[in-house]
Amino acid sequence: MTTSTASTTNRRLLDWVEHWSGILQPAGVEWCEGTEAECDELNSKLVDSGTFVALAESKRPKSFLSRSDPADVARVEDRTFICSEREIDAGPTNNWRDPAEMKTTLTALYRGAMRGRTMYVVPFSMGPLGSPIAHIGVQLTDSAYVAVNMRIMTRMGTPVLDALGVDGSFVPCVHSVGYPLVLADGSTRPDVAWPCDADNKFIAHFPESRQIWSYGSGYGGNALLGKKCFALRIASTMARDGGWLAEHMLVLGVTPPGGEKRYVAAAFPSACGKTNMAMMIPALPGWKVETIGDDIAWMKFGADGRLYAINPEAGFFGVAPGTSKKTNANAVAMLSEHCIFTNVAQTDDGDVWWEGLTDEPPPRLTDWRGRPWTPASPTPAAHPNARFTAPADQCPSIAPEWQDPRGVPISAILFGGRRATTVPLVTEARSWEHGVFLGSLMSSESTAAAEGKVGRVRFDPFAMRPFAGYHVGDYFAHWLDVGVRGKAATLPRLFWVNWFRRGEDGRYLWPGFGDNARVLAWVLARVAGGGEAVETPIGSVPAPGAVDVSGLDVSDDDMAELLKVDTDEWRHELGLIERHFAEVGDRLPPALRDELAQLERRLAD
Ligand code: OXD
Ligand code: MN
Repeated sequence: MTTSTASTTNRRLLDWVEHWSGILQPAGVEWCEGTEAECDELNSKLVDSGTFVALAESKRPKSFLSRSDPADVARVEDRTFICSEREIDAGPTNNWRDPAEMKTTLTALYRGAMRGRTMYVVPFSMGPLGSPIAHIGVQLTDSAYVAVNMRIMTRMGTPVLDALGVDGSFVPCVHSVGYPLVLADGSTRPDVAWPCDADNKFIAHFPESRQIWSYGSGYGGNALLGKKCFALRIASTMARDGGWLAEHMLVLGVTPPGGEKRYVAAAFPSACGKTNMAMMIPALPGWKVETIGDDIAWMKFGADGRLYAINPEAGFFGVAPGTSKKTNANAVAMLSEHCIFTNVAQTDDGDVWWEGLTDEPPPRLTDWRGRPWTPASPTPAAHPNARFTAPADQCPSIAPEWQDPRGVPISAILFGGRRATTVPLVTEARSWEHGVFLGSLMSSESTAAAEGKVGRVRFDPFAMRPFAGYHVGDYFAHWLDVGVRGKAATLPRLFWVNWFRRGEDGRYLWPGFGDNARVLAWVLARVAGGGEAVETPIGSVPAPGAVDVSGLDVSDDDMAELLKVDTDEWRHELGLIERHFAEVGDRLPPALRDELAQLERRLAD
């Protein structure tokens, strides 16, 4: 086992690595440099250990398939903790644990957790190196799989240490899969393809000291700590304290025919097609949509008073099932090489497959658990949460300025839900405060709604329910505060969208995908001072004919249904909002209670 030397003189970092080596007791320490040669070496090691299957060079060059332990396939929200000093500061949407107790519990689990393994030191930047919007983290991990994924998902390696310098600060992230090869009694055991701790998983965040401690899982957001843990949970607390925004949003650039490019950020709950929207091929002739990011946006005020956004990530960690040439041709093209696939199915000729990739499944596959599969098999070939990890610069729709350290100025922010009823296709907020109110009402509706009935509604404010690292009421207050810091003339305009409204007969009324560009066109027209609208009690919706539906098979009746604000549905909704706000509790900002009272009044008129 080798131990590499650190190319940093940052005392805090060196001391921290030494401290943790003492606890974790790895057989060796490797500082990741981020080079291609290093990555090749790690990939070979992963192939040798059985964690990776190399895909056919002729089909997917330099790409690998990994099959996880069947007990480690997704983010574990019930094992995710916000360990603020005071319980109240974690709020009603987070699991709280006392930080000292959590550290005691986890230190016991971490002691000797890397025995027999290499500890990788992974320096990474969330955002372009040196960008005033970016921040640095360092992750310790005993998973080479995590190291090679982090190389795609972040800017990783020695250049980050250079940017950190002698006294730069970083977010310390500790991660162990919790499967030591040398046990406490000195006996050894062989490694397995997907090591994890089957019994214990903890994804712990310490918002005051800005630390992340993760134990027991090697999967996605539990283990790639730059993403949900840092870029959302910890960064949201940094953003609250620093007057900026760390949000669960895609960012795209939209250019109308002959017009100027504008940037739009959009929040959607998980599994609502954010990656598809970020890479959309617009259905409107002459329009262009370019990708900045598909999951997370960090936004800070520029000198001109506008909010500038970066995508803190450098790759896409997207859900594979459902991704096809029809739903996301850019993603399919992006996945042609240099990718990691986790829990997808394998074809006989060494390629990958997942449900939805082709209309007809191949006659024979190896499923995500490594078992023979045929179309007659009762279970899906790919796990529903199977993922691809792909470098952002391989995406055909990536914007040339996606790495601009200044970020891109945001003109509009969309808040999207998944509602079969009640919420129109698009609504413009009356003001920033009203927009924050609409963001706080983002929600998804269960499938009962498919029969035209109002289903069970689950609120997911700003799509941040599992990701805000502090009290949701304070989070709303922070959004209101951003509106006070900004000026109405330069702040983004706020909109509410819903691609998922259904007719009485249960059918989706809106085609979605590339046709969402028609809604973007109306949004940008509003930003530019045009776009005809009609006032409703919940905000302005497009006037009849204001959304361009030329060439689209959506009837006038369906369009009216899509834009309808139904007073009865909204009376019912008021009760749900009351309950939702009661759950937020007494940290609900009075301005939002006031918005609710105003809405009630407008509905009564
Ligand atoms: C994601 C999520 O993986 O939101 O992006 O769950
Ligand atoms: Mn997400």
